[in-house]
Amino acid sequence: MRFAPVLAAFAMCLGAPALAEEVVTSPDGAISVTVDVNGEGRPFYRIDKGGEAVFTESRLGFLLTDQDKLERRLTVTGATRASHDATWEQPWGEQRFVRDHHNELTVRFEEDSDDKRRFGVTFRVFDDAVAFRYVFDDESVGETLRIAEELTEFNLAQNGTAWWIPGGEWNRYEYLYEETPIDAVSLAHTPLTFRMENGTHVAIHEAALVDFAGMWVKRTTGTNFRATLAPTGSSAARAVRDLPFATPWRTIRVSEDAAGLAESLVELNLNEPNKLGDVSWFEPHKYVGVWWSLHLDEESWGSGARHGANTANVKRYIDFAAEHGFEGVLVEGWNLGWDGNWFFNGAEFSFTESYPDYDFEELARYAAEKGVPIVGHHETSGDVGNYESQLEAGLDLMAARGVKTIKSGYVTDACNLRYVHPDGRETRECTESQVMQRHHLKVVTEAAKREIAMNPHEPVKDTGLRRTYPNWVSREGARGMEFSAWGVPPNGPDHVPTLVFTRMLSGPMDYTPGIVSLEGRGQPLQMTMARALAEYVLIYSPIQMVADLPEHYAEHPEPFQFIKDVPADWEESHILEAEVGDYVVTARKDRNSEEWYLGGGTDADAREVSLALDFLDPGKTYRAEIYRDAVTSHFEGPTRFDIVIEQIEVTAADSLDLRMAPGGGFAIRLIPTGG
Ligand code: NOJ
Ligand code: CA
Repeated sequence: MRFAPVLAAFAMCLGAPALAEEVVTSPDGAISVTVDVNGEGRPFYRIDKGGEAVFTESRLGFLLTDQDKLERRLTVTGATRASHDATWEQPWGEQRFVRDHHNELTVRFEEDSDDKRRFGVTFRVFDDAVAFRYVFDDESVGETLRIAEELTEFNLAQNGTAWWIPGGEWNRYEYLYEETPIDAVSLAHTPLTFRMENGTHVAIHEAALVDFAGMWVKRTTGTNFRATLAPTGSSAARAVRDLPFATPWRTIRVSEDAAGLAESLVELNLNEPNKLGDVSWFEPHKYVGVWWSLHLDEESWGSGARHGANTANVKRYIDFAAEHGFEGVLVEGWNLGWDGNWFFNGAEFSFTESYPDYDFEELARYAAEKGVPIVGHHETSGDVGNYESQLEAGLDLMAARGVKTIKSGYVTDACNLRYVHPDGRETRECTESQVMQRHHLKVVTEAAKREIAMNPHEPVKDTGLRRTYPNWVSREGARGMEFSAWGVPPNGPDHVPTLVFTRMLSGPMDYTPGIVSLEGRGQPLQMTMARALAEYVLIYSPIQMVADLPEHYAEHPEPFQFIKDVPADWEESHILEAEVGDYVVTARKDRNSEEWYLGGGTDADAREVSLALDFLDPGKTYRAEIYRDAVTSHFEGPTRFDIVIEQIEVTAADSLDLRMAPGGGFAIRLIPTGG
């Protein structure tokens, strides 16, 4: 800021305190965050890494509906500091132990006005990220803060490439990612991923989104972005909170490369520890279900001759799961309300009454006998009011039927969710609005009381709350496999190599992989067979669907073996090689054995990788069961089925040279055999 020294000198002449910036650095010293007010008393922060600017001056503040905005005439009145280094254990996850190592700075601001309004901003700087949140704990701003808009800026220092989906648009998060110059982004959801011209990778997101409006990010000019809170039908204010409270954390991952971006677990570190106590009643697992047949339109959700959720058919799936070691059978279309166009049936759904050809009691008995629980299904079609009015009864029924996990759904256009307030008032809500945050937490905590895990589709984005509520095990929140069935266009070969560095930064996704028939509803899947297997390693979720039809797995028994073997819970995870949107290679170690798993996936371009196996135990030899593309493989046409399955012996001293075909990849199981 060119005028700052002049203004500072001027301020000192008047006897006012000098403009003193506060700086906090990451534990390794590479990232530094500078906080100050400018000459107009507007607070800002700046991020540098290795002496180079990541964000230039980025303003902080709020517009309020019933008070003057809180954004200028501010001075820094104090700063407190802390450091933290502790490691905690996840009950399940992509990584068992998570280190939370950061330096903290809280800056106190006071307004130069009659009200002398005061608030704080707490920054935490990690080696791989910066986070901050506003703290409102002073009565000078009143008892209740009514926030019209958040003015937080993210002012990228350089142009580069952005990967993003539009914020607030009708299809929620279910868009193909745009890859554009940073200065061509409009309004975007988070996580919002950038690679700046100097190669620095940055992702903007948020953590601990509780009782507040979710944040979209809007480009203002050039490469400057500003928070945009999701609106609500409930009030002119987008977020309303009684004091004291702190906002969700605004997070900025900063990394030299794509791998570092994806390996950060900063949002988990910023959430409260587990509030549910012992959650060993949830066990990561794979599940099958009456699902793909519905998206192929071979069976129906609604009643009639094609009704998929009939007792005999579900028993067939239970038998299939029991035979192959899968631990759940999802049943969609079991309950009254699906007839007609279910997109518009929100008010008609019953969460307790089954269709007559679905004998839930008998199926619960059969499921228990076979040791394969039913996975419950609660589609709301966006009528949250109807769902909440039956929530406890609906969950009680599932608990009584031995259900351990429920997939829910909120299919309606964004900002059209029907919400009913405690006083009976009805409003329409956006996916991320404040009342929807309350709704999701209500469902998750009610489910936890019954030892049930939740997996919402058309959800609110994940902000690390699985740490606090570990029964919130997965969610959708992007274009999943269903788009390969009927999407126009379908998910392309670059979709998963993009998701890993965008949607997946927020947490587990119920992507529902494993379509070995490689065929949707009259359109081929845009991937090779090896790639279909790799997605179990590339996309993390503690519940993984084995999504294809039993008869299709019977046609492909050899690739199917990998799907049977691959775990859903990990000791550690690493990205070995990657470029956002181009390709990704991931290595994960099983949490319950000494086995390692590798997955690779590329976009429409073939790629060769040479992987050092130095992550393996140097004292052991391993049998590598390799599922890779053949030289003939190509995602377009019949050679997408071509796959080479082979076994070789390897040690930590070896490296593997692998070729991924266009739209292809590889999946590898590494089993210690001795040593
Ligand atoms: C959308 C979900 O993503 C999909 O998996 C489900 O089958 C339908 N809603 C019906 O609930
Ligand atoms: Ca969906």
